[in-house]
Amino acid sequence: MISFKDVSLRYDRGAGVKNINFQVQRGEFVYLIGPSGAGKSTLLRMLYMDIFPNTGYVEVDQFNSNTIKRRQIPKLRQKVGMIFQDYKLLNDRDVFQNVALPLVVMGASRRDIDRRVTKTLEEVGLTHRKHYFPGELSGGEQQRVSIARAIAKDPLVLLADEPTGNLDYGVAQEILNLLWRVNAKGTAVFMATHNIELIKNRPARTFRLSHGEFKGELLP
Ligand SMILES: Nc1ncnc2c1ncn2[C@@H]1O[C@H](COP(=O)(O)OP(=O)(O)OP(=O)(O)O)[C@@H](O)[C@H]1O
Ligand SMILES: [Mg+2]
Repeated sequence: MISFKDVSLRYDRGAGVKNINFQVQRGEFVYLIGPSGAGKSTLLRMLYMDIFPNTGYVEVDQFNSNTIKRRQIPKLRQKVGMIFQDYKLLNDRDVFQNVALPLVVMGASRRDIDRRVTKTLEEVGLTHRKHYFPGELSGGEQQRVSIARAIAKDPLVLLADEPTGNLDYGVAQEILNLLWRVNAKGTAVFMATHNIELIKNRPARTFRLSHGEFKGELLP
């Protein structure tokens, strides 16, 4: 479902990633670990086709980074949910509107939006916060909103870039548990993290990166 074939990406000022090869099947859970600057975010951004390799290619479902057309990018992103360390919520919209936004952009019907947002807020345990604004929520709640926003479109893959970086240990554990629940429903998850202690509780396939290179894979 996802493959990286001889992927290298060099930023204008240098660095990036070199010669990355791997395949991930539907429904897998994968951790990306490695020191700061190792290339974890670069790799996730290529999966989202926010940036493109200089050599090699990335495949996500039927989309290939070498042949995808600009107008197909929104179609790809319907299949790829993304969450970030700093949540990236819209502060002037309430929880419901934040989660609804990607569905509105996709052109879903009002009824479909209502149904999916309601169901997704239930899944992340935030029904009671539906009409709160991001500034009125804890960090853990904000991250749950951002997960809800990413999964409401029922993506094939969820990308999480250091999703627990701003949270204390207990809340980080809850977010990790939530990502595993999302995975259990069939969505593949890629999670970049520094938090080795945290992920020890939930072993999975783990890709090690360092200085832009793939340093091997640990199996659970
Ligand atoms: N937009 C950019 N322009 C130029 N160089 C960049 C850019 N983004 C990342 N880099 C460089 O590419 C390399 C990989 O960066 P990346 O952000 O992927 O690392 P990371 O593993 O996500 O690190 P961190 O754990 O700090 O988030 C680093 O050397 C970084 O300085
Ligand atoms: Mg990063």
